[in-house]
Amino acid sequence: MSDEEDNEETAAANSDAILSWENISIAVLEESQSPSDMRSMTDASGWSRFTGPCGDTMEVYLKLAGEKITDAAFLTNGCMFTIACGSVLTRLAKGRTLETALAIKPGDIEQALGGLPEEHRHCARLAVATLRMAMRDYITKRLAAENIRKFYILN
Ligand code: FES
Repeated sequence: MSDEEDNEETAAANSDAILSWENISIAVLEESQSPSDMRSMTDASGWSRFTGPCGDTMEVYLKLAGEKITDAAFLTNGCMFTIACGSVLTRLAKGRTLETALAIKPGDIEQALGGLPEEHRHCARLAVATLRMAMRDYITKRLAAENIRKFYILN
């Protein structure tokens, strides 16, 4: 390959890199730089850790009072898009009932972030999947506690 061809290829690669940066919304930059609720929770009512097919992991912590999510937090080792998705996710989840939290869709997160690049749309799916697993963890623990209570009341 000649120097000229080499330079053209490098310029094309740089142009792709610039284009992909142009695809990042201001909301993604802000949320990833200053995420809300990126923390653990020692007294969570529900918790989950999920690793997506890309290898990134997210943890979601929920605190509930009955059916209502009173606090939500997340941790991730993922990219800036995953951090931004976790940040939006916790804000969307707080204050909702379990039923209405179940209605949170990856598209809601994408919309709040002003869109995600095609290759990072799965970050929103990872966030929602981890939230649902944390809700399931809470429901499972609550049912187990109710069954134990019924057992001791009935016996
Ligand atoms: Fe895989 Fe963000 S790159 S979850």
